[in-house]
Amino acid sequence: MTPFEPLLQGQTAIVTGASSGIGAAAARALAAQGATVSVNYRNSRDQAQAIVDAIRADGGHAQVVQADVSDESDVERMFASHVSSFGRLDILVANAGMQQDASITDMTLAQWQAVLDVNLTGQFLCVREAVRCFQRQKASPSSRARGKIVCMGSVHEQIPWSGHVNYAASKGGTMQLMKTVAQEVAAKGIRVNGIAPGAIQTDINESVWSTPDGLKALLELIPYGRIGQPDDVANAAVWLASDQADYVTGTTLFVDGGMCLYPAFRDHG
Ligand code: BGC
Repeated sequence: MTPFEPLLQGQTAIVTGASSGIGAAAARALAAQGATVSVNYRNSRDQAQAIVDAIRADGGHAQVVQADVSDESDVERMFASHVSSFGRLDILVANAGMQQDASITDMTLAQWQAVLDVNLTGQFLCVREAVRCFQRQKASPSSRARGKIVCMGSVHEQIPWSGHVNYAASKGGTMQLMKTVAQEVAAKGIRVNGIAPGAIQTDINESVWSTPDGLKALLELIPYGRIGQPDDVANAAVWLASDQADYVTGTTLFVDGGMCLYPAFRDHG
């Protein structure tokens, strides 16, 4: 391979939750490296279509695919649609996620369940279906691994998060899901890794970064001194999915500007 060849040429990918934020950036970044991408959305068809249009305008290949990742038959239909359109699957970026915040005493069972359903059960359903696809198909000459999975975690798989017990529990869960499946399928030539983003400027945390006071307080938590951008995470997803990371499996790559470095201790504690 020459250094200038696109990293994911000849491969195909599904990115869940790709109509906005980190998922949209990941879909575009994978496509820019040659992958043909299914851009998954649950409700925002127009936004997902805009991502597909942008990929095509840049000379890439993509389709939209609707599915609620927490619904088993939706997930099966999404993977079937991808394989019927593009012939095979090489990469899954299990990104779809949500927050519904409340203190422990105020959190309803519905809020707990909704977040666990999408963030954790959704990853289980998509990861299971991806592994089934990888096993069914022939190895590809375009990739050393038989298949690659990137699970979107969070710094909150490590940092407890008051007022967000559903979200933190779901991300702790995705971390063990990722590692356990990585251990289970490594011998089949399938790599499974995670990304743990810190504060990335997307809709999910707009209420924090959109006010000067909120942004100031947030930056106190980020030693590198800036809020992250979706491309910071998308670039990590490309690398983990590429042959450059062929010996990497079962690892979480923290993309957080140092948020996990106990910033409160930076002035000697
Ligand atoms: C959450 C964001 C938050 C960030 C850092 C992410 O996983 O979705 O809302 O800003 O963690 O706390």
